[in-house]
Amino acid sequence: MSLLQLQGVSKKFGQVVVAEEINFELGVGDALGIVGPNGAGKTSLFAIISGDIPADAGEVIFDGRTITHLSPAKRARAGIGRTYQVPRPFEKMTVFENTLLAAQQGGRSHGHKSYVLAYGALERTGLADFANASAGSMTLLRRKRLELARALATDPQVVLLDEIAGGLTDLEVVELTDIIRALRSDGIAVVWIEHVVRALLSTVDRLLCLASGVIVADGEPKEVLASDAVRSLYLGSKRVEEVL
Ligand SMILES: Nc1ncnc2c1ncn2[C@@H]1O[C@H](COP(=O)(O)OP(=O)(O)OP(=O)(O)O)[C@@H](O)[C@H]1O
Ligand SMILES: [Mg+2]
Repeated sequence: MSLLQLQGVSKKFGQVVVAEEINFELGVGDALGIVGPNGAGKTSLFAIISGDIPADAGEVIFDGRTITHLSPAKRARAGIGRTYQVPRPFEKMTVFENTLLAAQQGGRSHGHKSYVLAYGALERTGLADFANASAGSMTLLRRKRLELARALATDPQVVLLDEIAGGLTDLEVVELTDIIRALRSDGIAVVWIEHVVRALLSTVDRLLCLASGVIVADGEPKEVLASDAVRSLYLGSKRVEEVL
């Protein structure tokens, strides 16, 4: 069953095309990876899906309903969770307070249920022991985990992950990837933008490559990486084996 659909989505910032007639579909519980050069429009695509920026044309359909004109808060309540490329927690609040706020503001929960969701999100991301620490004191890995916890606290049907593994060590990437893989077994769909291709490949079963706002390849991950378009537009002179 289709969970998320983009139909003819286009967006320009001045002369810069970030999305040109984008069409794609994501099923319930699917895991899709997105790669592409810097400035390709990857983050903009997330912003169009989450409602942070309006598309110039096209429709976003979620769970059978057109959501193109809904606010980001309403889309979050409908079940779309997202993380940001640069984590932006409220530094002076605790890890738990940050997560609870996400559950209350973006989520579909009230009162006691928000606490349950917030605590559950901290447990899933391995942050329960840091619930009372201030968010500003967290290391990069824990900030990334908190970013994920805030998205999960909204009780999403899909999470949009924007370079959540960026800047982490190899071991930290493995830890984070284990958490993301576990989401899939809970039936949460994942769309993951990432330059750490190895991490992506261990989690997703479909890969999409975006360049200048156009989907240049979409399909089985290794085939997509081996395609001429992806090699010339994204991998450059690197061979597929080098990124695995
Ligand atoms: N709010 C905005 N106003 C104007 N231009 C923008 C805005 N957001 C993004 N852009 C431009 O749109 C283009 C695509 O940006 P986007 O952040 O979507 O790329 P990206 O694929 O996520 O790149 P990266 O891999 O570096 O994160 C870039 O040229 C960027 O400067
Ligand atoms: Mg980006």
